[in-house]
Amino acid sequence: MCYTIPGKVINVQDNIATVEYFGRHKKAINELAQLLPGDYVYAQGGYVIAKVSAQEAEQVLRTWQELFVSLQEIDAQLTRPVLQNKNTPLEKILDKAVRRVSLTGEEKLFLSGLTEPRDKELFYKTANFLRQKYHANACCVHGIIEISNGCGRNCNYCGISTHNKGLVRYRMTKTEIIEAVHEAVMVHGFKALVLQSGEGAGYSIDELGEIIREIKNQYAVLILISFGEIGKTGLKKLFDCGARGLLMRFETSNPGLYAWLHPGFSLASRLESLRDAFEMGYLIITGSLIGLPGQTRQDIINDIELGCDLQAEMLSFGPFLPHAQTPLAKSNAPQENDMCDVLALARVLAPAQTKILVTTAFETLSAQARYNGLLCGANSLMLNATPLAFRPLYSLYPRRAHEQESIAFQVDQAVSLLQSLGRVPMDLGIADRK
Ligand code: 5AD
Repeated sequence: MCYTIPGKVINVQDNIATVEYFGRHKKAINELAQLLPGDYVYAQGGYVIAKVSAQEAEQVLRTWQELFVSLQEIDAQLTRPVLQNKNTPLEKILDKAVRRVSLTGEEKLFLSGLTEPRDKELFYKTANFLRQKYHANACCVHGIIEISNGCGRNCNYCGISTHNKGLVRYRMTKTEIIEAVHEAVMVHGFKALVLQSGEGAGYSIDELGEIIREIKNQYAVLILISFGEIGKTGLKKLFDCGARGLLMRFETSNPGLYAWLHPGFSLASRLESLRDAFEMGYLIITGSLIGLPGQTRQDIINDIELGCDLQAEMLSFGPFLPHAQTPLAKSNAPQENDMCDVLALARVLAPAQTKILVTTAFETLSAQARYNGLLCGANSLMLNATPLAFRPLYSLYPRRAHEQESIAFQVDQAVSLLQSLGRVPMDLGIADRK
């Protein structure tokens, strides 16, 4: 996955291909030589990643066509029209949101502080309505391979930081990484993979570049990197080797809170990396931790707005979950409802094309996270494709969801949940790059 379905190329102009999916036209950046109208392709995150034979494409499309229509009906039923009367202050604000009229600062705070269950329900339904309107029933499903838990940073909340002295550290070899990618792509059908590690995990940029180049030579997959702050030169080198996405949270938009959580480091330099990466052409996945000690509702609104300002293709907000071997061991995690509030607010405030992830941390906080998250504005999932032996060692926070589940099991679970919600695991969304 992304279980992208094949699309048919309608035309190619310069490096932009127009691709048709069941009658809907999408644009994708093409880096393949000799792409012609009539060819079938897989596209991911706005990039054409591979050509497919007409025979294979037509077979996949035949299977999907019928299901696609019936799933769209389920999704539409679950997304009942909201806001019949527009009388209350809440309905007036939500009506503005649906009409895409900018909200005032006060209105944003009002939405983030709802307490009545009925009000929250209306808010979540409106967010789900916007998700449906802009993304139909498409859900992005990426895989992540955690290649090393080595880390040289001292983030006060993180279970793989230097604070966790007793943690056994691992570093997958190039062969192990390629094997994991092979399984994810060839056995399970992933079309987009994040490679992640702690920062300064011991690989040189050249080693990482070589690994990415080899993956890109062998597999039709979009590669997103997540190795922390690797500098502008590092970003450029890995882009040249074929990486096209960067997953890096800014963690909090509050510079004071950032400095307190990351002694010796600054929010400004993290943001500079994110901006450099976007300028280079990387698709950006970013976001923050929710429920940090001292974090206010206004901070969270600022987090959402910062993610949008960074032109994120996908926003990733996860609850802070205290880890025993860190200085924040005694702090509290947020409630499930707090996370739904953030996802719904992100859907209301973000540009139409922005994808919103249900994070593994949220799934760890609540068994209903996926179901509830997907019904309050989210439209993306990330499955763990790290070899099972390494997973418990990637202990960002305790008892991570899916830690013991095979990839096949996770794929089955994700696909059946998505289908029960009328969603299709694929990526039709195309980054609206400026
Ligand atoms: N709780 C939740 N998320 C965490 N991360 C690190 N530590 C924790 C924690 N205790 C997240 C950070 C980082 C990502 C890889 O993991 O947001 O960006």
